Amino acid sequence: MDQSLVDFYNSLESIDPLALSESVLMKNYGNPSLCLVRGSGAWVYDSNGKVYLDFLSGIAVTSLGHANPMVAAAVSAQSEKLLHVSNIFANEVGPKVAAMLNHLILLGSSEDVSGRVFFANSGAEVNESAIKLARKYGLETGRHHIITALGSFHGRTMGSLSATGQRSKQASFEPLLPGFTHIVWDDVAAIEEAITAQTVAVMLEPIQGEGGVLDPSPGYLQAVRDLCDRRGLLLIIDEVQTGLGRTGAWFGFQHHGILPDVVTMAKALGSGMPIGACWAKDVVADAFTAGDHGSTFGGQPLAASAALATIREMIEIDAPARASRLGVLFDKHLEGNREVSHVSGSGLLRGVHLDRPIAKRVVELCQEKGLIVNAIGDHIIRLAPPIIVSTSQIDRACSLLTESIGEAS
Ligand SMILES: Cc1ncc(COP(=O)(O)O)c(C=O)c1O
Repeated sequence: MDQSLVDFYNSLESIDPLALSESVLMKNYGNPSLCLVRGSGAWVYDSNGKVYLDFLSGIAVTSLGHANPMVAAAVSAQSEKLLHVSNIFANEVGPKVAAMLNHLILLGSSEDVSGRVFFANSGAEVNESAIKLARKYGLETGRHHIITALGSFHGRTMGSLSATGQRSKQASFEPLLPGFTHIVWDDVAAIEEAITAQTVAVMLEPIQGEGGVLDPSPGYLQAVRDLCDRRGLLLIIDEVQTGLGRTGAWFGFQHHGILPDVVTMAKALGSGMPIGACWAKDVVADAFTAGDHGSTFGGQPLAASAALATIREMIEIDAPARASRLGVLFDKHLEGNREVSHVSGSGLLRGVHLDRPIAKRVVELCQEKGLIVNAIGDHIIRLAPPIIVSTSQIDRACSLLTESIGEAS
């Protein structure tokens, strides 16, 4: 054993974690202001022992709260049984998650269809899968173009970044993947005008999350669904941020009475374990044949055990109904605020739109007061508390937020 390596390893214990992050991690996230070390439910603690109400949930990830006992027990049990097997073999857990997702996606739909799932490890990867699936589906008819919305966010891999409708995130990484047309969000006519003989799919979020928690107008998604049906296009709905109960339905598209052809999700699916899923109707899913796509870790038993426990627990607490019921409290608390123009989003994914460009200052003040939220640009505060949050925690968060808005104004 090389003692100098052991000494180096041991020396890491005594280095301040924030300083260590700054010196060894790439600068792509900016400098973190806190190091969070443990959590319980809606509470999270930093390395100095200060406690915060977490109204961001790892950006809509930890919907069942931190250290959820059901998820922890499932992950712990699975880790002692079998962590990983290659996708050359089946495992006992992933297919159960896929069957549950198929069931949840089809809830309330009158269509006599079934679907299949491909698992990966993140939102970007499942969107990448959806892009590849659409291209393979369109291969025979020579179609591979995908229409997506300006302001959308679909991830950071080259395919999902090319799908994303935000120039600021793309500009430094050109050339992008060809075959994407970005149209104005919430405008069906713009989609219709953009369709060409090469178009195979339209890809949208049911609420634009990173774009500012922007709701579609009533009827928009139904009109897009009708348009896709008329023109023979796939409708891909990116539920990475909105999925799994957060907006007050299992999936955001379910508020609009439509069934997409492809649905992607990640974030909340594993309660923090990295897992994402790309679901597609059979007729689309069948475009992938053996060898077309894959992921070493996709659907492995450990992350899938977290997903299975997450879904079971979400059913237990009726996560969609709970998110819907609790979400109303934000309107009650914040709508009257003089600095707030409106509150967007639905359920427990909300955007607080401020008249003045004070969002970043408000986030800092909230953090000082023990509340974690985040800013999207200069005018919007995003709220995504865990779905297990209590009414008194929402009351407290809203009063800290109101105080912070007042001080920042
Ligand atoms: C709608 C949407 N799609 C895709 C992604 C990318 O997910 P990931 O960061 O897991 O790659 C995000 C992340 O914020 C998202 O909100």
